[in-house]
Amino acid sequence: MSGIHVSTTINGDAVEYVCRPGEVLLDVLRDRLGLTGAKEGCGTGDCGACSVTLDGRLVCSCLVLGAEAEGREVNTVEGLADGNTLHPLQTNFIKHAALQCGICTPGFLVASKALLDRNPNPTETEIRYALAGNLCRCTGYDKIVRAVQSSAKQLAKDATKTKAKAKSKKNKSKTKKKRA
Ligand code: FES
Ligand code: FES
Repeated sequence: MSGIHVSTTINGDAVEYVCRPGEVLLDVLRDRLGLTGAKEGCGTGDCGACSVTLDGRLVCSCLVLGAEAEGREVNTVEGLADGNTLHPLQTNFIKHAALQCGICTPGFLVASKALLDRNPNPTETEIRYALAGNLCRCTGYDKIVRAVQSSAKQLAKDATKTKAKAKSKKNKSKTKKKRA
């Protein structure tokens, strides 16, 4: 059987691969590209352990064909950290003990990031609703919700700080121009 050549973007990098027509994106990520963050829990779209985003939309990579990533933008849990600096969601999951065995964690992180990207200040109900497609057998969910709430607060604080810094930089350069 001939393979399908796919050109896509994964975590900001241009990536090419050849996959079988019926091969799911989860298997491509894990077995062909070595991106083993997404996990296979059920393989039927029920557990969310394989969550990734496709053009910003949360999907179960066990239900998406590898060929469907052609020309699209895929983001996985591996793209969350900035080099050695963990994303606030990652640090808060650790801080709030929002993981135990960790199998579900990559899926929860990706789903939480997708939520905060579209709704930076979600209510507890909105968080629970957004994460309803992700199953965890260990934590009881409350710690996960707390971790997402703390991350939302932290991201909002960071955004305010960045804005304030940019403003003071702008003001300083204005003052310099006036003096010159
Ligand atoms: S492995 Fe994809 S939803 Fe469970
Ligand atoms: S931490 Fe074990 S399934 Fe969630």
